[in-house]
Amino acid sequence: MTDSLNIVILTGAGISAESGIKTFRDTGGLWETHAIEDVATPEAYARDPKLVQHFYNLRRAALKEVEPNAAHIALGRLQAEHKGRVTIVTQNVDDLHERGGAKDVIHMHGELLSCLCSACGWRWNHSDDVSVEDKCPACQTVGGPRPDIVWFGEMPYEMGRIEEAVRGCDLFVSIGTSGAVYPAAGFVQMARSLGKQTLELNLEASEGSHFFHESRLGPAGTLVPEWVDEVLT
Ligand code: OAD
Repeated sequence: MTDSLNIVILTGAGISAESGIKTFRDTGGLWETHAIEDVATPEAYARDPKLVQHFYNLRRAALKEVEPNAAHIALGRLQAEHKGRVTIVTQNVDDLHERGGAKDVIHMHGELLSCLCSACGWRWNHSDDVSVEDKCPACQTVGGPRPDIVWFGEMPYEMGRIEEAVRGCDLFVSIGTSGAVYPAAGFVQMARSLGKQTLELNLEASEGSHFFHESRLGPAGTLVPEWVDEVLT
């Protein structure tokens, strides 16, 4: 039975922590040193686009210094070898799932290696710094390019596809997320209300731990490869 399960996996910052990318809400996390309202809202960008571009330029550059860890690689292997469908939905804006071998990843909060034109909505791959003097390659608006990050108050990407995947899955797994940010934090309740099995893999009990049938606590770099081995054998 397990070899044909359809699985939806939601990941958060905890899966990239062992690669050296800071989480948001742990001790020393990003939101301890930067206020959300200064760098992660449309209002912050309207007020001080240079500061916001700088914040994301640093994070984009930092991606070049890190590598996928055993958890990303195990999920890449699961997507390649499992007979059922494996849908990976990530809140992370890094590209470590892809570099770990995953072929199809839904980045519901956007991507650091992508730009979005605030004038015409065009999105394109971009791996270098972005400045407020840059032009959109599609509509040529100067200052159009902004980080392709879903900020607080904006609608996450691909919600329809995510809901469809949860409806069609047998098992919903959450990895390395605090369960503090909706709508992602509500996926487990959606899965439960549809009668799906649910599993959490996290360093510590998350805010929504009690919603899961099973919660395994420990580092993703250990727990995820162990769980993937279980599914594949
Ligand atoms: P958080 O920083 O809120 O939570 C990270 C979770 O990962 C915590 O529950 C940690 O216990 C866990 N964790 C830390 N290290 C781990 C490890 N090695 N292995 C397993 N788990 C570990 O990050 P997210 O839940 O991803 O949104 O945050 C959700 C959203 O809030 C982000 O996408 C971002 C942020 O504001 C936007 O910027 C729109």
